[in-house]
Amino acid sequence: MGQVDFSAFEHEGWERVAQAYHEYFGDLTTQSSPAMLDALRVGRGARFLDVASGPGYLAAAAARRGADVAGVDFSFAMVEKARRVFPGLGFRIGDAEDLPFPDGSFGAVGISFGMPHFAHPERALAEVFRVLQPGGRIAFTVLAAPDKAVGFAMVLKAIKEHGTTDVALPPVATFFRFSDWEESRRALLDAGFVQPHVREVEQNLVLRAPDTPFHAVMRGGVRFAALLNAQTPAALELIEQAVAHDAEAYRTDTGELRIPMPCVLASAFKA
Ligand SMILES: C[S@@+](CC[C@H](N)C(=O)[O-])C[C@H]1O[C@@H](n2cnc3c(N)ncnc32)[C@H](O)[C@@H]1O
Repeated sequence: MGQVDFSAFEHEGWERVAQAYHEYFGDLTTQSSPAMLDALRVGRGARFLDVASGPGYLAAAAARRGADVAGVDFSFAMVEKARRVFPGLGFRIGDAEDLPFPDGSFGAVGISFGMPHFAHPERALAEVFRVLQPGGRIAFTVLAAPDKAVGFAMVLKAIKEHGTTDVALPPVATFFRFSDWEESRRALLDAGFVQPHVREVEQNLVLRAPDTPFHAVMRGGVRFAALLNAQTPAALELIEQAVAHDAEAYRTDTGELRIPMPCVLASAFKA
């Protein structure tokens, strides 16, 4: 799949799943917002930009700290959702690889779970560098590799056992590129940032019966959903059952599934 196709694939996907993403993943990705805003030193009066803002969680968390915020996302459905969930904040349509802001507009920029979805993540980092003031900070989060992000591991294991990963889609491996701490550090340095710092932040995907990670990624995801939709109906049924079986190990006393999905938090600043 070429780069233009990849961008179109992502765009079409996010336009479709804005509401389901909010329902399934909103309570997950917001768990790392405080750590990200701490890394960015966002406080009262900070000029903050949320890139690939989705339903607007990070911008809203920064606004609650008293920051002056803007959010940008290339999906109309996501921007509409963000405007509805957090009225009064400045969400607009725009491409992370061509940010609609002048040079030096912000003191801090966060990309919460956006990096794996960009056709050219290096261009997005270069754009963040451009719109930051000298001394400004960048931070991004991505989900940890599947050996730690248990919900994804369950789905991938079931696909390998009962289906196929040999489909005409962006390879799942590229989704986890920045889960590699060294790769994240190198990308920040290559974009001109200094003093990169990488760490892991705990997060858990909490789901109520009958939902499992299968349903979360099938309904609220883009790339994993496409991989599942490329399976035969018979394989898909076996995959759903296998995930349901493995997920039971994470059932809590209150009846919910609580599945570890930590993230990698990378940050740096513009000298
Ligand atoms: C996994 S969601 C993350 C949403 C939100 N930041 C969060 O933390 O939950 C990825 C978001 O990236 C957006 N996105 C993907 N590629 C983009 C691009 N090139 N420019 C702007 N937004 C993009 C999608 O529309 C989607 O809202």
